[in-house]
Amino acid sequence: MLILGIESSCDETGVALYDDTRGLLAHALHSQIDMHIAYGGVVPELASRDHIQRVIPLTQKVLADAQCTLEDVDALAVTTGPGLAGALLVGTAYAHALAFALNKPIIGVHHLEGHLLSPMLSNNPPQFPFIALLVSGGHTQLMRVDGVGQYQLLGETLDDAAGEAFDKTAKVLGLNYPGGPAVSKLAELGTPKKYTFGRPMLHSGNLDFSFAGLKTAVLTQAKRTQHTNADGVLSEQDKADIALAFVDATVDVLSKKALQALKQTGLMSIVVAGGVGANVQLRSRLDTLAAQHGFSVHYPELHLCTDNGAMIAFAGSLAIQQNPELLQQHDTFTVLPRCPLRNTI
Ligand code: KG4
Ligand code: ZN
Repeated sequence: MLILGIESSCDETGVALYDDTRGLLAHALHSQIDMHIAYGGVVPELASRDHIQRVIPLTQKVLADAQCTLEDVDALAVTTGPGLAGALLVGTAYAHALAFALNKPIIGVHHLEGHLLSPMLSNNPPQFPFIALLVSGGHTQLMRVDGVGQYQLLGETLDDAAGEAFDKTAKVLGLNYPGGPAVSKLAELGTPKKYTFGRPMLHSGNLDFSFAGLKTAVLTQAKRTQHTNADGVLSEQDKADIALAFVDATVDVLSKKALQALKQTGLMSIVVAGGVGANVQLRSRLDTLAAQHGFSVHYPELHLCTDNGAMIAFAGSLAIQQNPELLQQHDTFTVLPRCPLRNTI
């Protein structure tokens, strides 16, 4: 069965074709980062307008790359939430219009479900059950995943998401949006242990997180260092030292809580997904812990860590295999800008 997947929940338009026997046939992505950089973050109205311009050419590109036509598509899968309402509406309205015109079935996919199943598209796919560490710009969650549609929330952030903390740290240090990759790169030049920030909620006794205090620690340290410098500005080395202290604290909390989740559930396999899953320091720490404690760790391919259409087409395909009745429901549509990931099947 050939699925056309469409993702437009935030600042990336993604379209992909996934076939349940042949695998991922094609995927195409347009990132709006260059457009939003001037504003230091995503401008929702601009995001929606850009999705409108991109989604048709991207669909044409994946069809051409896979040497398919729209007639070959058996069903559509589209992100219905969570995300920016206007941005979600563009992809959803487009996908439903296509489905209606082609008389093909369509199903809605939860964005986080796309992320957490995306490592199953890699060369080293995890087996159920596993722990998922979902770390994106809007979410930081630990989940127990027993199968497609069988998700149990074990813990989540009480305030900022990990990606949000990266983005806010980047702003304080004068780096461009999105901050994650920039902070990570700068941290590589930092002096180890020059500064040390607290590890929020590390000993809370549960699997919840908090990153808002870490962002304040970054701001406080930046101001303090600035004041002690004779010229009143942060040097590049100061910025790198603060970036490293932030990355160390964030990675420490994420990886140790992930280990706690494994111990608590007795599972031996963890999947890391979402934009922050591309972070090299986090990957390296988890790989070390995995070697020490004998569990396996799985990541999506690097280019599938951030938002993309492939994970939506793939999640849609798995959901349909699990529950073919999903193909019957396609006469109305809605988007859900805020919606927890529950057992979706
Ligand atoms: O999953 P994603 O593309 O979009 C959401 O669903 O939020 O994640 C975007 C987030 C941003 O906050 C970005 O700064 C962060 O992921 N990110 C990273 C890295 N690449 C992206 N954070 C740390 N290190 C990275 N290499
Ligand atoms: Zn995402």
